[in-house]
This record gives sequence, C-alpha cells and structure tokens, in this order.
Amino acid sequence: MTKTKSSKGVYTFPGNKEKYELLDRKNQEALLGGGETRIASQHQKGKLTARERLHLLLDEGTFQEIGKFVTHRCKDFGLEHQHFLGDGVVTGYGNISGRLVYVFSQDFTVFGGSLSETHAEKIVKIMDLALKNGAPLIGLNDSGGARIQEGVVSLGGYADIFYRNTLASGVVPQISAVMGPCAGGAVYSPAITDFILMVEKTSYMFVTGPNVVKTVTHEEVTSEELGGASTHSSKSGVTHFACANEIECIKGIKQLLSYLPANCEEQPPNYSYTPPKDELRPGLDEMIPENPNQPYDMRDVINGVVDESSFLEVHQKFAENIVVGFALLAGRSIGIVGNQPASLAGVLDINASTKAARFVRFCDSFNIPLLVFEDVPGFLPGTDQEWNGIITHGAKLLYAFCEATVPRVTVITRKAYGGAYDVMNSKHIGADLNFAWPTAEIAVMGAKGASEIIFKKEIAEAEDKQAALQAKVDDYTAKFANPYRAAHRGFIDEVIHPRDTRARLIQGFNMLKNKVDKLPRKKHGNIPL
Ligand code: HXC
Repeated sequence: MTKTKSSKGVYTFPGNKEKYELLDRKNQEALLGGGETRIASQHQKGKLTARERLHLLLDEGTFQEIGKFVTHRCKDFGLEHQHFLGDGVVTGYGNISGRLVYVFSQDFTVFGGSLSETHAEKIVKIMDLALKNGAPLIGLNDSGGARIQEGVVSLGGYADIFYRNTLASGVVPQISAVMGPCAGGAVYSPAITDFILMVEKTSYMFVTGPNVVKTVTHEEVTSEELGGASTHSSKSGVTHFACANEIECIKGIKQLLSYLPANCEEQPPNYSYTPPKDELRPGLDEMIPENPNQPYDMRDVINGVVDESSFLEVHQKFAENIVVGFALLAGRSIGIVGNQPASLAGVLDINASTKAARFVRFCDSFNIPLLVFEDVPGFLPGTDQEWNGIITHGAKLLYAFCEATVPRVTVITRKAYGGAYDVMNSKHIGADLNFAWPTAEIAVMGAKGASEIIFKKEIAEAEDKQAALQAKVDDYTAKFANPYRAAHRGFIDEVIHPRDTRARLIQGFNMLKNKVDKLPRKKHGNIPL
C-alpha cells in the first residue's frame, strides 16, 4: 500500500481513492431509480419522483436515507438480471418544521413501485424506528401493488406492514399520501393509518380495479370514478383530503402535522400567542337566524371563535352534515366537532357518526382537547338508515366521546334534541364544561313533534285543530325551547353571550390543561364496529 508523508508530518493513503469513487458512483446510480427514461415518463404523467417528493416534504438538508443500496432477492421471471439500488422505495428520516419524522416514498420508476420482500423490509425498518423513537410516520404511496414475480413473499411483506401500522396506531401519528396507484390489499396500510391524502386525477385506490368490476358486476367504470380522489373524499370517506396536485398534497401533510404531537406521550404543539386587549367576538351575536329552521354555516361560528385562519377542516366533502377539523385557540392545538345546520339540518346519520367518531378517537389518542359546537335536530329517520345500521354507527360516536379523557368542552348554539343531545359531548358522558348560547333549545324533540305526540287526543278533539296545535307548540316552546331548564339542572354550566365564547373557551381549556382522567383497567374496550 502506498504511504506518503504530508508536510505536516501526517501519513496518508491515497490508494483508497477508487473505493471512494465506487461509493460515489453507487450513490449516483441510486439517485436515478429506474433510470432517466422512466423518470421522464413519470414527469409526463404529471407526477414527481419519489426523491423529488421527499425534497419538497422535508426541511432542506435534513433527509438521512436508510437502505439506499438494498436490492431484491428474486431469481424468477428474469428478475435475477434486473437490479435497481433501493428496490423501488426511498426510506429514512428527516425534519418537518424542525420536528423529526420517518418517511418512505415509493419509487414508481422501479418495477412500478411494486412491493417486494426487500422493499417491505425497508419500510418495516423505518416503521420500527418510528415506533421506538416516538415520531410520526409518513408514507408516500405510488405502487403497482405486490411484486408479481415474487408471489407470496410479497404478500407476507404487506402483512408485516399492516401489523406494524396497527401496533403504531395511537402511539405515533401515521399519515398516508396516495400519489399514484394503490390497489388490491395494498390499500389496507393507508386505511389503518390516521389520515389519507390523495391527489386529484393521478391517484386511485380500490380493492379491485375496473376490469374485475366489469367481469363480476358488469359495471363499466373508470379508475377515477371507481377510486379517484374525489370519489374517496366525497362518496366513501376513505380519504380525508383531496389535493389539486402533488405540491398541495405535500403542503397538506406539513399543515396537518403542525397540529399534532410527535407521539401519544407528548402534548400537542402550543404556539406563542400574545393576547389582545380583549377576546370579544361581537360578530358571533349575529350568527344564529331568528327562525330556528333557517340554516347557517357552522364553519362561520368555528372561524369566529378560533385563532384567525387556523381552522384546518378534515373530511370536508364527506358527510357534510358534521364538520370536523383542527384549529388553534390562543396558540393551542384543539380538535373541533360541529353539527352543520347548512347540510341536512345538521342531523346525525351513519356517515356523520363514523366520521366524527374516528376524529374524536384520533384526538383522544394524541392528547388533543376536544371542542364541540352543537346544533342537532336528532338522528336521521328512515329505512335506509335503520337497515344500514344507524344504531351501531351512531353508537360509535357515543362510545368515542364516552371514552375520551382529553379536556372536553361543548357549546350548544341552537338545537340539542333527543339522543343526539346525549351523544354530542353532553355533561352526562364526561364533558368537562358545557356552555349554551341563549338561542339554545334543549329538549327531547322539536316543539311541533312533541305537541303532536303528547296532545294527540286533545288536538284531534279540538274544533280548530290547527289553532289547538299552535297553542300547544307555543306552550312547549316557551317551556323547553331554551337553555334554562338544562341550566337549572346543572347539565349546562353556563349560558353565555355568543360574543364571550372565545374568551370563555380560552379560560376553560386553560383551566383544564392539567386534566388527568383514567378509564377503568381493561385490555381494550369493544367499540361497536
Ligand atoms: C411487478 C410491476 C407491477 C407489479 C407494474 N410493474 N406493476 N412489476 N409487479 N405489481 C412494472 C411494469 O412491468 C413496468 O415495468 C412498470 O412497473 C410500469 O408499469 P406500466 O404498466 O408500464 O405503467 P402504467 O401503464 O402506468 O400502469 C401502472 C399500473 C399497471 C396500473 C399499476 O402496471 C398494473 O396494472 N400493474 C399491476 C397491478 C396489479 O395487478 N398488482 C397486483 C395487485 S394485487 P417496466 O420494466 O416496463 O418499467 C396486490 C395484492 C396485495 O397488490 C395484497 C396485500 C395483502
């Protein structure tokens, strides 16, 4: 080995130069994934490459790759002659806004991003690190599914991932972005994670594709119609966010993370906040129409209460009769659930119940306090709802609230009728603070329905039935269509002017910030799934 002595008297060994160059060449090769032609084809489809996506997602210079030189072990169907460094997935860790995250990004330019045994092992490795080190896991999915040449070995790889998704659930936040195909059993990893974002027009998710659908059910449907972003954000509710393009999708991931703690042992972020002279919001006094049947947009109430422009709505286009999302209140992250009178009068149905239940459970898993705005006429009647199990699905929301131990505050803005009164974070199921506006109506049902039932005979016997009914309605309204009966009982802690709501909520959540509440010891409950 050649040895030279420098002017400073240090011995150096320049003979290793070739080895270092080999490493440089390998690094360069890995960066190219499936090669320039396939990268160009990816761009032509309007898609970024796996590495470009990570570059946009992570703080500059923070990405540390793990498993860059991994290659597959398959010796069938000619694959033994084709090896690409990294084997179709880029994995590692980095920072988003200075906070640690673990990431995998599937590389469609390598065997269509398909999942081989080794591809799965790489993902599993970073999932294990995320779980042990308590930091969020972000998956950027763009894959043709199981590596067909590998058969059951690939299926096993998927199951290894599903298993870890489940173990990590409730321990670290898991976010899936679907930025290309995601089909067959592959859909179940994103489905177990906490949030899914999809890109309009270039991504799709389905258990079986259009060809199988045509064979089995004779339906003609495109991939986009069957499982595109707009389908899953509005019809099925599978995805929480439909993004106009990949850039928006990546921005969405970062925004979402800004409300979340790194793991279930941490508190959510608390951003610095300088209180103004007062927290009055006079505009809230004019939010509720005088006619109790007239709709208004609960988002206006939410935006009127929380820190300016801080509300991030989740599941915006699905089950629009309930609104859920994250916001900041005096710089603190909170989760919001609100009935939406502007859609189906804010009634609770199957989709609204499951949407809100999952959101409540997420917030509770990650110590995010819950704020509920209530204006609900009850559960939606009808054969469709009953036959599809509104009883079981409605119970999910009830169960989720009952089980939540985070600080919980309710504001009843207008209607709180029937079972829905109980379900929507009532005092009886563990809410900590319950406020009502003077416009609140807390009763078993609306005045007309109630009068028609309890005075049925009397009204039937009256000469002027309409006048008799109206008299009873007026009487019932005067007695029950207000918040005071509930306040007399202590079911409502205080009736407040709408303009004072923000100040009362800031004080309330501040008072509750050290809340400790424990569920009875058990293995786990049996939520009505
Ligand atoms: C191996 C695959 C692959 C796969 C695509 N490729 N899917 N290789 N296994 N599953 C390769 C192609 O051979 C091609 O290689 C490259 O990826 C790009 O594929 P194209 O077909 O040219 O791209 P495109 O036209 O955009 O179509 C993309 C696609 C299509 C729609 C994803 O490739 C496709 O239908 N693939 C098969 C999907 C599938 O049936 N997967 C199994 C699902 S079942 P070259 O060398 O030409 O670049 C499943 C079960 C999971 O996943 C169960 C878990 C429990």
